Amino acid sequence: MRLRLRHIPENRTALEGPQTRHNSPVDFYKSFLRPMLFKMDPEWVHERALSMAAKGFIKEHTNIDYTALEQEMFGAKFKNPLGLAAGFDKNGIALANWGSAGFGFVELGTVTFFPQDGNPKPRMFRLTEDKALINRLGFNNEGARKVAENIAAVRAEIPYGINIGKSYNAPLEKAAEDYKKSFQTLHGAGNYFTINVSSPNTPGLRSLQDKDKLDEILKVVREIEPTVPLFVKVAPDLELTAIDDVMEVCIANRISGIVATNTTIGREGLTTPTTEGGGLSGKPLRNPSNRILAHIAKNSNGKLWLIGVGGIFSGADLYEKIALGAHLCQVYTGWIYQGPDMVPNCLLELMNLMDHNGFKRLEDLRGSGLS
Ligand code: FNR
Repeated sequence: MRLRLRHIPENRTALEGPQTRHNSPVDFYKSFLRPMLFKMDPEWVHERALSMAAKGFIKEHTNIDYTALEQEMFGAKFKNPLGLAAGFDKNGIALANWGSAGFGFVELGTVTFFPQDGNPKPRMFRLTEDKALINRLGFNNEGARKVAENIAAVRAEIPYGINIGKSYNAPLEKAAEDYKKSFQTLHGAGNYFTINVSSPNTPGLRSLQDKDKLDEILKVVREIEPTVPLFVKVAPDLELTAIDDVMEVCIANRISGIVATNTTIGREGLTTPTTEGGGLSGKPLRNPSNRILAHIAKNSNGKLWLIGVGGIFSGADLYEKIALGAHLCQVYTGWIYQGPDMVPNCLLELMNLMDHNGFKRLEDLRGSGLS
């Protein structure tokens, strides 16, 4: 399904507005660094990038005024609506530095109660032609206790969420207990928590999106976290009726919002033939993910905060998600393909598009693309 938006120009390029793009005509990342990095193993490159971020080497050097993009939501102040999606900084080792890299917020994790290595390598694959990634990492992380220590050791400059998943060793029927232990361990940290029931890389995890199972988990977690903002992250592969069930259970359990979406098990529209299993992210995920986002926005009667994620590569993509109802957005794959300049470029393009279309604030734009 392709969503048509009134305000997005067909060529989807940045519109020149009152402020101009800050990068030089030769984009160093895309012209020199990316071709070199893309010859190397994706997971190795990811680890190097994360370690650069942890040392504070990834910085936004612009002096663009983002005041028009500021928002205050669920008790936190967001300097801009673009966050780093879960999976990049699973253990929170670069938490102190994501703000100076330009992001408005970051979601750490997925964290599981027990430390775990994840699936055998190789488990991350680039589909360069398709501007996509396939991963089947399987929640490799240091476990809730260590992540709690990592977080306690630093001061975050921006709001952050913590994404919790089921430990590989916990049986599905004891999932609620496993989530509970992680929440108890990480209690007190984070501006929000996300309950991840949608990764395709932990066997059976996505079945926890079923009404009764999700209800059980949410009840248990709400008991320990009566006030903290809680989100549920959903898969783009669910039927819309199943999404309706998720929304119903979320609202009944006073869940604050939904993160839409995780990676897809679908392989539609790829030009690169692949038999690799795992979750697909990046450009091909944009439309499936937007379809779910728009459905939730239209049917939740303003009762849920929405974080839109999947296939953001430009300010126009960001604009589109907000027009479809997102309060905040996240990126992972686009950032790998576009490099660190992506964040300021996207935000600038978003502001120019808003200006061009007569939207002064994000709340004016929000939902304007829903039919
Ligand atoms: C992810 N994603 C992810 N999501 C999550 O909830 N927990 C996780 O641990 C991970 N891990 C992860 C690893 C890798 C390598 C990728 C590419 C993605 C999913 C991610 O947060 C996001 O939902 C999707 O990638 C869609 O966004 P993009 O990548 O299209 O911007």
